[in-house]
Amino acid sequence: MKTGKILDARRRKSLPFQRQLTIGKRNFEKKGLLFSLMFNTSSANSIKLSVPEHIASLVPYPPGKPLEELEREYGITGSIKLASNENPLGPSPMAVAAIRNALAGLNRYPDGSGYYLRRRLSEKFNLPFDGIVLGNGSNEIIELTIRTFLLPQDEVILPAPSFLVYKLAVQTMGGKTVPVPLTHFTIDLARTVAAITARTKIIFINNPNNPTGTIIRKAEFDSFLEAIPPHIIVVLDEAYIEFVQDGDTPRGFDYIHRPGPYVIVARTFSKAHGLAGLRIGYGVMEPAVADYLHRVRQPFNTGSLSQVAALAALDDEEFLHKTQSAVAEGLAYLYREIAKLGLNTVPTQSNFFLIEIPVDAKIIYEAMLRLGVIVRPMNSYGMANTIRVNAGLPEENKRFIKALSRTLQELPESR
Ligand SMILES: Cc1ncc(COP(=O)(O)O)c(C=O)c1O
Repeated sequence: MKTGKILDARRRKSLPFQRQLTIGKRNFEKKGLLFSLMFNTSSANSIKLSVPEHIASLVPYPPGKPLEELEREYGITGSIKLASNENPLGPSPMAVAAIRNALAGLNRYPDGSGYYLRRRLSEKFNLPFDGIVLGNGSNEIIELTIRTFLLPQDEVILPAPSFLVYKLAVQTMGGKTVPVPLTHFTIDLARTVAAITARTKIIFINNPNNPTGTIIRKAEFDSFLEAIPPHIIVVLDEAYIEFVQDGDTPRGFDYIHRPGPYVIVARTFSKAHGLAGLRIGYGVMEPAVADYLHRVRQPFNTGSLSQVAALAALDDEEFLHKTQSAVAEGLAYLYREIAKLGLNTVPTQSNFFLIEIPVDAKIIYEAMLRLGVIVRPMNSYGMANTIRVNAGLPEENKRFIKALSRTLQELPESR
């Protein structure tokens, strides 16, 4: 048999079985080559799978290593993490108690409708029960929205920089992201309207915005919605809304009954309620919009422990207030001390903020890591001279300032 030709199936059938297998494998490999040329499979990838271009070009979310691994690698102990905007006080104690009570039921599947949590959310915030969708973190609400409504080639407008997951989720679905640069570290709603085209399907607004901590103003948001065609979905991501102290910012729940553009509000239990490890969040929207998300989500997308914990945390007002005070006091201390170090900061309405530093952020990150203090270098957000930190416990904040000060002093080129 000549090489270079895929053997005709009828001729192949008359050959012995082992020979058929060998030819089949070779044909498969040839087709694989064709596939990889069509879909641009990475040659660096050792697996023989064809991967669509929009997946092959994805840059994964930078997750960071487990704390224990970092400590082992750097030979340190007792390190502190101020890099992921987590709650420094731990989880809501009422949530922890609820989890203990629910452990014996782990042999059962969770309530796929999330009935009790949705009912409580609906009562507490005066929301339509049918307009609430629970998610595996608010991350899942972001992804579900994109998976449900986005057609390939549709455009999604994003603030830049903002939460990295928006871009990843759009790209995963083969959509096109349209970044709109911030103005003075703040989401620019006028520029966002100007970026709308006939292909725009979704607009993400993150209020307060991660990583800048800045907010949008209510009157501006109202005019923004008026300027948007009704077939567009506005996702208002309020992951950090509980930390906002300025009264002049929109509250997403006031906007869900609009006839269009539809507003989907994404909220989470990961931050102010201290339940990041459980992965539970929710979306609130017009019930007709929620109906589509329910069709797309997995039937049991949130676990039973997550549901009972979130239900308890929702009414753990004491813990929420303690968290808000700890964050406010922590931030006040940090801003004061950082000003003494002569560094610029961005004023925040969240539990984290940005600090401008005189060298590449990765250098500061590495140096502080050796001192057992973990911060977030902003290189992956396109801000190479900036780090992001969240408010920690008082002793953690002190340690952070000490480590930052020492790191800056030891930089040969900065002082
Ligand atoms: C702006 C923003 N939105 C959403 C999330 C996702 O939160 P989760 O999936 O934990 O609810 C985060 C997490 O850091 C975030 O910063």
